[in-house]
Amino acid sequence: MRKTILITGGAGFIGSHVVRLFVNKYTDYLILNLDALTYAGNLENLKDLAGSPNYLFAKGDITDLEFVSALFARYNFDGVIHLAAESHVDRSIADPMAFIKTNVFGTVNLLNAAKEAWKGSFEGKRFYHISTDEVYGALENDGTFFTESTKYQPHSPYSASKASSDHFVRAYHDTYGLPVVVSNCSNNYGSHHFPEKLIPLSINNIKHRKPIPVYGKGENIRDWLWVDDHARAIDIIFHNGKDGETYNIGGNNEWTNIDLINTLCKIMDRKLGRADGESAQLITFVTDRAGHDFRYAINSSKLQNELGWQPSLQFEEGLKKTVDWYLENEEWLEHIVNGQYRDYYAKQYENR
Ligand code: NAD
Ligand code: DAU
Repeated sequence: MRKTILITGGAGFIGSHVVRLFVNKYTDYLILNLDALTYAGNLENLKDLAGSPNYLFAKGDITDLEFVSALFARYNFDGVIHLAAESHVDRSIADPMAFIKTNVFGTVNLLNAAKEAWKGSFEGKRFYHISTDEVYGALENDGTFFTESTKYQPHSPYSASKASSDHFVRAYHDTYGLPVVVSNCSNNYGSHHFPEKLIPLSINNIKHRKPIPVYGKGENIRDWLWVDDHARAIDIIFHNGKDGETYNIGGNNEWTNIDLINTLCKIMDRKLGRADGESAQLITFVTDRAGHDFRYAINSSKLQNELGWQPSLQFEEGLKKTVDWYLENEEWLEHIVNGQYRDYYAKQYENR
């Protein structure tokens, strides 16, 4: 194999798209997916890769230094693409400690394992940390954008934990010379998105004629990016990004939550053969999220100009494709709702 790559969090939403891209595109790389299979980890996301000769899965926690160091010793990784994280803002408000443990402590653990395993020579090595636009705080609706030099001003425990991990990654570059690269991306959408997040939750609720909870007045703005466009950006940055640099990734695609939900309702009315306006009646305004960031918007011109990346998909087309995927993969959603997805690991891996 030409390279051996550790991808953390590969059983999650974005991680599964990144693992699939790398396993299928780089058949001369060995890809090891390390994931603790928390509630958000779902190996059914990757069932199409079963049998791929260049794909391995390891169940383990990035906070466990002994386990992570043993993986480095055994596989002599050339690179790390680090996505494992607690990722849901509402959960971080309810239980911040889990976010500090995985996002901060777990990231520093991985950095230590990489630094130790690669000591002697960092030549040809790369530690790529995947982060979020939420570290920059919130914007007004005034046409400004987050750039790579925007000051960090995180508001939620989730974004504070991601900001902290970003600082540690850069500190390991500046202090020890570890070859790192960081990217900060806007909201992703697409297939295999866990149904606690706005778009998959709404699709599921519309399908079952359940209320669609819209926080506050639904005026908050997010910049939505097709998940495979993020995976493509990760591929480009991993291979061509410069050591020590940060790249912002975004869709240039801002929507208020209420406009997004109304569009989704229209798409689903058509797909489900309902009368126009029927699904929109499910919209229910609920108490706002505490500390709810008003607007995120990314300027990704550095990535576009220096590394030639572009978002590929127009949003309404992407939303239609996303709805189609959820309607065609009812079993995937049912297994999450009834908890069966958590048995998949035991069935596939435990007796090997
Ligand atoms: P996700 O919650 O869907 O998946 C996270 C994965 O990490 C899960 O498979 C989970 O089992 C695993 N994990 C959690 N704790 C772990 C631990 N201690 N050890 C090993 N594995 C662990 O998350 P996602 O939405 O796919 O996000 C992936 C990464 O991308 C995160 O770092 C997130 O901050 C970042 N990000 C997400 C978005 C987005 O819109 N979803 C946008 C920008 C950046
Ligand atoms: O910006 C990148 C971030 O996007 C990632 O770093 C996070 O991991 C990811 O979860 C996402 O965070 P958000 O908080 O923006 O995503 P979420 O889907 O939770 O919410 C999107 C918007 O919709 C937000 O303004 C809150 C609102 N919302 C959310 C839910 C779950 C609702 O109005 N109702 C809901 O039920």
